[in-house]
Amino acid sequence: MHIPAIGLGTFRLQDRQVIDSVRTGLELGYRHIDTAQIYGNEAEVGQTIADSEVARRDLFVTTKIWTENLTAGKLIPSLKDSLRKLRMEQVDLTLIHWPSPKDAVPLTETMAALLEAKTQGLTRLIGVSNFTIAHMTQAIAAIGAANIATNQIEIHPFLQNHKVAAFARQHGIHLTAYMPLAYGKVMQDPVLRQIAERHGITAAQLSLAWLLQQGFAVIPSSTQRANLASNLAAQNIHLPETDMAAIHSLDRNERIASPDFAPVWD
Ligand SMILES: NC(=O)c1ccc[n+]([C@@H]2O[C@H](COP(=O)([O-])OP(=O)(O)OC[C@H]3O[C@@H](n4cnc5c(N)ncnc54)[C@H](OP(=O)(O)O)[C@@H]3O)[C@@H](O)[C@H]2O)c1
Repeated sequence: MHIPAIGLGTFRLQDRQVIDSVRTGLELGYRHIDTAQIYGNEAEVGQTIADSEVARRDLFVTTKIWTENLTAGKLIPSLKDSLRKLRMEQVDLTLIHWPSPKDAVPLTETMAALLEAKTQGLTRLIGVSNFTIAHMTQAIAAIGAANIATNQIEIHPFLQNHKVAAFARQHGIHLTAYMPLAYGKVMQDPVLRQIAERHGITAAQLSLAWLLQQGFAVIPSSTQRANLASNLAAQNIHLPETDMAAIHSLDRNERIASPDFAPVWD
């Protein structure tokens, strides 16, 4: 199974909120759930999946290794801990959540441990997140581009990440767009609203359709049933090239996720 084009994000969602969001998402037809060790909700995600009617084999589950677990000694034990919380023997995709802060842990060590996790069957696919061109270059040198299923990075109309996208395309590496709604900001943009209105869709759907049409996977999150449903329906929207171009012109390098340990961005 490839990475399903639309997934359900779970960042910030805790306890009842994450349970309700994932349960509703599964009911509506989401089959790709994105969690992470640092989100502190793997156990709730696992419980909700276990309680649902959806068979494990029909689901695509991603988790991400936190920066404290990037050494050879910690990566696999931390993934086993995630699997225990998720109540699974294997996840579909395991990502390195962020490059090691200040590159303290050599990337060759981390990528080798991640590949070993795949060899051991703990994860079906492996990949990276928030990797710059420099980090992607090192990761490719370490384990080969064919072993890197995706680079999950922030992409939305206001941060289009063209350089990283071009590099990934050149190496045949798929990209997943996180914060595909710019954490709600796309809904306020007058240009997006106007184009969306013309098509009888929402600005959120427009942003998702624009990303999907470029071949990115998207992982929007929502706590609202109606939003979860309309975000999923974005996969049925096709945009004319003129609208694609109009949205391309909205790029303003506006990055939302940039913690103090972030790498030097391209
Ligand atoms: N790898 C990384 O470092 C990283 C970093 C950040 C995020 N992520 C992943 O990406 C996922 C998505 O990012 P995100 O959750 O930060 O931001 P997002 O998906 O861009 O935006 C979520 C926000 O948009 C609202 N929303 C969702 N659908 C809507 C709709 N149809 N109409 C109006 N408002 C809507 C939600 O509010 P309501 O709940 O009210 O709908 C929520 O406030 C995360 O959950 C996480 O899984 C990964």
